[in-house]
Amino acid sequence: MGATKTDAAQGLSASIEAPRHDAPTCPAAFTGIVASQTATRDATVVESVLPYLFVGNAEEGAAALEALRKMQAAECPTARARIVELAVQHATVVEHVTTTVRSLEQAACAERQVAQFLAEGSESSKADAIAVLMLQLRPDSPQSVREAVLKILAQLCQPGHGDSKFAAGPKPVVAELPAHLRVEASLMFDPMRYDLRGEATALLHRWGPEVGFGRFPEHSERRTCRLEDFRAKESVFSSFRYERRWRQCVEDSESFLTVYRELVEEVVCPHLMSELSPGGESGAEAEPSEDSSETFHYQYPPTLRLQPGPSAKSRRIHRDAEYGHQEGEVNFWLPLTDHVCTGTTLWVESEPGMGDFHPLLLNHGTIGRFHGTLCRHTVPPNVTDCTRVSIDFRVGVGRFFDPTWTLEGVDHVHTRRVCRIYRDGKNADRISHASCCFYICGCC
Ligand SMILES: [Fe+2]
Repeated sequence: MGATKTDAAQGLSASIEAPRHDAPTCPAAFTGIVASQTATRDATVVESVLPYLFVGNAEEGAAALEALRKMQAAECPTARARIVELAVQHATVVEHVTTTVRSLEQAACAERQVAQFLAEGSESSKADAIAVLMLQLRPDSPQSVREAVLKILAQLCQPGHGDSKFAAGPKPVVAELPAHLRVEASLMFDPMRYDLRGEATALLHRWGPEVGFGRFPEHSERRTCRLEDFRAKESVFSSFRYERRWRQCVEDSESFLTVYRELVEEVVCPHLMSELSPGGESGAEAEPSEDSSETFHYQYPPTLRLQPGPSAKSRRIHRDAEYGHQEGEVNFWLPLTDHVCTGTTLWVESEPGMGDFHPLLLNHGTIGRFHGTLCRHTVPPNVTDCTRVSIDFRVGVGRFFDPTWTLEGVDHVHTRRVCRIYRDGKNADRISHASCCFYICGCC
């Protein structure tokens, strides 16, 4: 049943419906007329053709795409920005106007055509288009806009070269990770007991100015300064050189690593253990191991991510399989800053290929869990003055994980530790030691 158009929706609709749906069309003639006018790219003609991608008619859309291709319109920054603007307006209209199957089909057709248009550009144009689209992903964006933008992005963001290697290559010979551990979840911890926000603040206070990637405002004291107020160079998020130096600072911080280790071994691994136990948190039955213990391989050190703003830099849509992770790993992500301040956070799809990306609106004291090896995820730009700080790591789950397996052709750079948890309740004996295995992570 279609809803009634609101005034706002009607206004928006009018602004993007330059081509009339009921007007007789002849795609061939249309293409010829447009092409004859476009020996050189003409902004006015481009502007007049772009709305044809939204009529939901495959023939007209194809004709418009052909005309835009001849004009090389995807290379034009103004056209790229305009098409994103139209896509947002169109998604808003669709949400207000209707939920009929026909309209949803038209919307899907429009999204495909917009993605196809943007994909026509060079690699740098495509990267620019992705950056413009990512700017639309804010927690306060209307759901229809998020969905439309993410569908277009999912078509534009091609998997990395590791993805095809993962799909085609040999997999670890292990038991299959239980389905309930692939489901997104969250777990709480005491942020006073495991004060990673305070640890990160201390780290930045010391190393930011010394290494030269950022500092807190003048005269702010370590005990009172706010993590979100750390001012950092954009390159700390996007430059491998700075990331490597920052990673070294983390590796050298005994205090930070101690709190991290305690959190993983006292909260995260026991949580996983309870999920594996018969009648555990999930209520799922899992086969017990012979000695009633389970081994967990966790990333050590974790990735301590800084995302300063304002910036247009983002993390592209990807799944960690392309970085050499295996299905027996579970991702954990915990924010140290307030997502309301930073306006950006991690977005995750709920099942592999589902495309229903949604923001993890968590704050310090909650850990998000998801199956990032196969579920795609992304981080939109931080357009605020606040810096976003988060920790991400993965845990390889015992008999479902092969610590010796590597994805051929993918270089790996992270170390991990091993933690064994016994199934004898809260007083589980834990042992841990550094592993000599190296593997990559990448990305959140
Ligand atoms: Fe990732």
